[in-house]
Amino acid sequence: MVFSRELMDDVKEIFENDYGGHDFFHTLRVMRIAKYIAKIEGADTEIVELASLLHDVDDYKITGKNMDSVENACKLMNKYNIDKQVQLQVTDIIKTISFKANDTEIPSSLEGKVVQDADRLDALGAIGIARAFAYGGSRDNLMYNPNIKPNLNMNSDEYVKNKTTTINHFYEKLLLLKDMMNTGTGYNIAIKRDQFMRDFLEEFYREWNNI
Ligand code: ADP
Ligand code: NI
Repeated sequence: MVFSRELMDDVKEIFENDYGGHDFFHTLRVMRIAKYIAKIEGADTEIVELASLLHDVDDYKITGKNMDSVENACKLMNKYNIDKQVQLQVTDIIKTISFKANDTEIPSSLEGKVVQDADRLDALGAIGIARAFAYGGSRDNLMYNPNIKPNLNMNSDEYVKNKTTTINHFYEKLLLLKDMMNTGTGYNIAIKRDQFMRDFLEEFYREWNNI
């Protein structure tokens, strides 16, 4: 590993007060599944692990700032003397992996594609459902309102400002992710998680309509 226990502890601290689905366990799950995908896809596991560890430390939802400068990631990598070449590869990845509706980017490196897939897999399935409702609750969003329709055509700014219900978030993002997977390994895992969410929605509407 190109990083230490101390770096992991510093990252853990950043997510200490997050109760909206971006707590440090999210980062740990992304690291684990990213490493698994990296091995199968032949990506550099050290870059993948470090980029996974740092992928959310500059997220606008946590810092409240635009993430172009990737300030936290750079500070941390400098503190632990991470090689400059590695730093460049990592910042390149974390700047591009986030979902931005119609403005979503695909990272240019295989390592970036792997981390993007891993991050998205954690937004799917049972954990994805739990995270979505945790996020919605933390932002005072309604769980569901049948009168508010999903907006399927947003640019990056509109997506960030969008105040939506959590059920709408499934249509605006979560159900789109399976077909946006970059790697075959990611896609294969996404199939089952995507189906689980579709089954959940079906049951949700059934109960909502009292049948
Ligand atoms: P990315 O990881 O692509 O940057 P985000 O950080 O925006 O994506 O979202 C991560 C997770 O946060 C989503 O998968 C979802 O669980 C939750 N989330 C983000 N926006 C919403 C929302 N409007 N409603 C419910 N959950 C959301
Ligand atoms: Ni993430």
